[in-house]
Amino acid sequence: MPRQLFVTTALPYANARSHIGHVMEYTQADIWVRFQRLMGHEVHFVCADDAHGAPIMIAAEKAGISPQDFVAQIAASRKPILDGFLISFDHWHSTDAPENHALSQAIYRELKAAGLIDIRPIEQFFDPAKGMFLPDRFIKGECPRCGAKDQYGDNCENCGAVYAPTEVKNPYSVLSGATPELRVSDHHFFRLSDPRCKDFLERWTHGVDRDGRARLQPEVLNKIKEWFTVDEEGKGGLGDWDISRDAPYFGIEIPDAPGKYFYVWLDAPVGYLASLAAHFAKTGKDMDAFLADPATEQVHFIGKDITYFHTLFWPAMLHFSGRKTPDQVYVHGFLTVKEEKMSKSRGTGIDPGRYLELGLEAEWLRYYLAAKLNDRVEDLDFNPEDFISRVNSDLVGKYINIASRISGFVHKHFAGQILPSTDAQFARIAVAEATAGEIAKDLEYRFEAFSGLPSPILMNTMRGWADGIAGFYEGREFGKAVRKIME
Ligand code: MSP
Ligand code: ZN
Repeated sequence: MPRQLFVTTALPYANARSHIGHVMEYTQADIWVRFQRLMGHEVHFVCADDAHGAPIMIAAEKAGISPQDFVAQIAASRKPILDGFLISFDHWHSTDAPENHALSQAIYRELKAAGLIDIRPIEQFFDPAKGMFLPDRFIKGECPRCGAKDQYGDNCENCGAVYAPTEVKNPYSVLSGATPELRVSDHHFFRLSDPRCKDFLERWTHGVDRDGRARLQPEVLNKIKEWFTVDEEGKGGLGDWDISRDAPYFGIEIPDAPGKYFYVWLDAPVGYLASLAAHFAKTGKDMDAFLADPATEQVHFIGKDITYFHTLFWPAMLHFSGRKTPDQVYVHGFLTVKEEKMSKSRGTGIDPGRYLELGLEAEWLRYYLAAKLNDRVEDLDFNPEDFISRVNSDLVGKYINIASRISGFVHKHFAGQILPSTDAQFARIAVAEATAGEIAKDLEYRFEAFSGLPSPILMNTMRGWADGIAGFYEGREFGKAVRKIME
């Protein structure tokens, strides 16, 4: 039975161009998607720009352009990277597109009808010079514990203390330098503390997909257990989620609440559905019917830092608005460069645009990443020397070399035609000829080409290879698949 898959990667913030960490996420998902497509399954693989939020609004203001234009510039920079690294998305959308406005508002209305939205006043810092409420990261001041100056509104880099922005001494607005004032305003909350949410999430997080495979990786489940735990003082556990922001905000208006916008993380994952809707509008497929079909599987590839949103808020939003919930959330670790966190300011990291401009082959990086990827939430290091030596020894030394030696051999002894022999070596040749992304299909195709030929040994060898490799791909053990291919 062909599977019906709806696959996404996280929607990158539209305040920055794609970096190599994004490329690694797309590559991981893309290899998996290509594998599923080659196995004959129906796959819809989509992504989008995550356009909203205060940081983007402020960055646009600094650049002297509208947030829409700002986001459009970043969006235009994506295509060369995606094409360059052979990422096969079916569609790329934006969370500021009309589909996302409509879907986010519909979901909100449904959550409200389910009795899961609360409105209550909260006290927050307001920048009187800018005329806006300040997100925590736009407040700085002295640490309430150690007195260090110029610390962020939520934690101290000097002593590690974590606190509320209202505890900061001599606070000032990063935007204007003005002293912020405390002001009260009504906020909308998603009532995650409702027992229905807790019950549902306990079931969902421990659930299995249709193949009986756990929906979440063990590391992810452990983290979730921590988030659910209430300590002796009654702290912890699922709290209500503040989903609104006051104008001015670049976002989607909350229905029947003038001056209120959805917090960016409310409408961001809805962007998955909006992108699918736009893709289906192009191809003439019915999204509601597709998502209502029990055979449809929804799979999200994400990085570890956004697990909370994807394993608690997002499934709850979907479930309580009467929608299909994700079947799998595949969490990966971070790409580091020479064991260091990538950082623009320190100039670490490799710019994917630059990589392509230099004429380096996308397949080299894809191979390198694939060889290092597995199904766990582990960081993965990009080391330039290691990269060069792997490309040279594995790709040039083994793969290309075998292919060129074989072609000489074939020309000499078989008049340029590859004929099957009972020798298992031919299986190896077949494997070596295929690129990592196409290996499974290649093998399938070769089965057909070889079937009817009097070589049960060869057939068995081939089938063994194919099954092994397919199993690794299915289980996202990309490194193992690559090792098997290179054997
Ligand atoms: N906009 C949110 C996601 C919204 S999804 C509804 C966001 N954007 S992001 O641009 O910061 O990150 C996009 C994806 O890239 C996330 O899955 C994130 O974990 C991943 N990565 C960001 N830095 C990364 C590395 N250094 N390495 C690997 N993946 C990394 O979060
Ligand atoms: Zn401190």
